[in-house]
Amino acid sequence: MIAPALFSSATAEWQTPRALFARLHREFSFTLDVCATRDNHMCPAYFTPEQDGLRQAWTGTCWMNPPYGRVIGMWVEKAHTESAGGALVVGLLPARTDTSWWHDHVMKAREIRLLRGRLTFVGASAPAPFPSAIAIFDRCRRWTPVPHVYGWDWRAAARRLANCGRNGQSPAALP
Ligand SMILES: C[S@@+](CC[C@H](N)C(=O)[O-])C[C@H]1O[C@@H](n2cnc3c(N)ncnc32)[C@H](O)[C@@H]1O
Repeated sequence: MIAPALFSSATAEWQTPRALFARLHREFSFTLDVCATRDNHMCPAYFTPEQDGLRQAWTGTCWMNPPYGRVIGMWVEKAHTESAGGALVVGLLPARTDTSWWHDHVMKAREIRLLRGRLTFVGASAPAPFPSAIAIFDRCRRWTPVPHVYGWDWRAAARRLANCGRNGQSPAALP
């Protein structure tokens, strides 16, 4: 049982729902979790608070479910910077479309998927009190065109993928 305080808007511990990560991992094959602990990392390679992911170089295909609260701006800025250097960064973010960090950095992503429905994070007993989005920073240059923004029914996409596996068919076009 997770204490309710862990699920305040400022918590660092909104742990990714397994089914959502599995669906995205099938698509992107992540190699690095840029913010994690020994207990909640999603990839074998990960950065902890002690190592400070914000001070490390990000390479390969990165998963980022950043700590929430005021620091989130530094994480989305870093995601954009590192993508300019060649990393591909996929971020799970609260869809706070009115914030400075969203306008200054998330809007420089290549693609933004607005998730249909609310996520129930690992250990939570109810869906989150905020909407979520996936932002894909894909080798963005300093100036990027307007991102491709669309609504994504990830649960239906995950079901389609599972059905393909069961029927022995190749997966339908992603996402
Ligand atoms: C929202 S949780 C994500 C946990 C997990 N990686 C996932 O995707 O579900 C954010 C994690 O980032 C960690 N974190 C906080 N500051 C960090 C830092 N400077 N460097 C690396 N990790 C950090 C927190 O301890 C927390 O476990």
